[in-house]
Formats: sequence, C-alpha cells, structure tokens
Amino acid sequence: LRFTGMESALDWHQAKALLEWYVELGVTDAVAEAPIDRYELKPEPPKTPVAPAPAPEGPTPLREVPRTDWVAVAKEHAAGAGSLAALAEAMQAYDGSPLKKGARSFVFSDGNPDARVMIVGEGPGAEEDREGKPFVGPAGRLLDQMFAAIGLNRATPDAQNALYITNVVPYRPPGNRNPTPEEIAMFTPFLLRHIELADPDIIIPMGNIALTALLDRQGITKLRGTWTEVLGKPALPMFHPSYLLRNPISKREAWADLLDIQAKLRAKT
Ligand code: URA
Repeated sequence: LRFTGMESALDWHQAKALLEWYVELGVTDAVAEAPIDRYELKPEPPKTPVAPAPAPEGPTPLREVPRTDWVAVAKEHAAGAGSLAALAEAMQAYDGSPLKKGARSFVFSDGNPDARVMIVGEGPGAEEDREGKPFVGPAGRLLDQMFAAIGLNRATPDAQNALYITNVVPYRPPGNRNPTPEEIAMFTPFLLRHIELADPDIIIPMGNIALTALLDRQGITKLRGTWTEVLGKPALPMFHPSYLLRNPISKREAWADLLDIQAKLRAKT
C-alpha cells in the first residue's frame, strides 16, 4: 500500500476517512509510528568491497553457526516453574518467538485456576491483545454463553462451577493469522506445564490449533465430541467458538459436547 505523504496536511475528518479507507483495503496493523514512502527512498550506496582473504591451503572447513534450540529452552524453563505465577514469569522472560515483539500484551489465562474444567484456545485476537485476557472478544462472549448453559463460568470462586481458560500461544499473531507450527512447538511445553500446575479434571481443546498442540492431531470436524486423554486426563475436543460464529449450524454438535462435559463432571463427583 502506497502512502502519499499527504496525511499530515489532512484535517481530522479527512484523516478519519483516510484511516477508514485503509481499514477497508485490509490494513490491520500499524507497523511504525509514521508512514514510509518507499518509492521516495534513495537506494543505499553499494558497500565498499572487502579484499578477499588469501585462500587457505587445502579444503576450507565449514563453520558451524551455533543456533539456539528454542523448543529445548522452552522445555527447560517450563519444567522449572513450580507455580502458575512462576510459569507466567518464565513465559514472559522467554525470547524464542518473534510474536512477543509484535504484540501489545502477554495473555496468560483467565478464570479460576482451581476450576474442574480447563479450556485451551488458540491465541489472543485484537481485543484480547488490548485487554491482556483470553477470550474477551466475540468468540469469548459465545464461549461464556455456551458454558453458562451447563452452569459453568469463569468469574465464580466456586471451583465446582468454574472455568479456567488459556491459549496455545500467549501473544497475538499479526493480523490474526494462525500460529505457525514452529510457534506452536515453542509454546507447547509451557502449555503442558500450565495444565499440570492447574490440574483440572477435564481439558477442552478448542479448534485445530489446540488439537495440534495437545494431541499432535488435525481434523477437529472428525475428532470433536470424542473423549481422549491429555497428560492422562480426560479431554474433549470441541469446535472453536470463532468457527461456530461463522457456522452456526454446528452449534448443534457443540451443544451435544457441552452435555457430554456436564455428564462427565457429574459422573466424576
Ligand atoms: N480465540 C482464541 O482462540 N483465543 C482467544 O483468546 C480469543 C480468540
């Protein structure tokens, strides 16, 4: 998208109209304080060539560039966290993913950590990034309504009726794209430790990203509604509420899953 450099000469109404036009064109993120007109940038002067070093005798050995194994670092940091607060701290200190630089907030969890039911979503969207809490946008409102229908909510201190909510990645992927397999792999050790520390009775992976992180599977349409296990605990994959907003016909299946969760909770008390 080419910026004209005219923005500074606009009055408030013109600037607002221009901003709305950019949004209409699909602009979702401002990546710098001020627009850069790259058509006007002068090309960089060519770098002064460096005289080649004299060739060593015999074949040149390939130099190993040390690379950090960020998944191993995540595993180590996650394992060392002895409480939810320590885990949140370890995750915030973790620099493996560039998602951290692009996001406004670190989004760890919401609800009651003593809840019997733990929900795992995908990653923060724009509203979650603004508020620093998972599932506070339209998908979150639907999620709250769905679980309220079986008597569960995130605000109650009563663990029996409570919900605890987190995501696979704690930072908003730019433009709400899906987290990449590398990003999922980096944050999965933290997610597994999160589940161990919260110790819920039931885990609900919502959508394909949670399914990939927790079960290394794809295909939520096929797998939803079938009980499986995560870390030895019962887990019921469900459609993601964002999918249900786009495909309201699938709320029928979601309702069946909610009744299944209710029955499992009753059977386990
Ligand atoms: N979608 C998610 O998966 N998680 C959120 O926190 C918000 C939307």
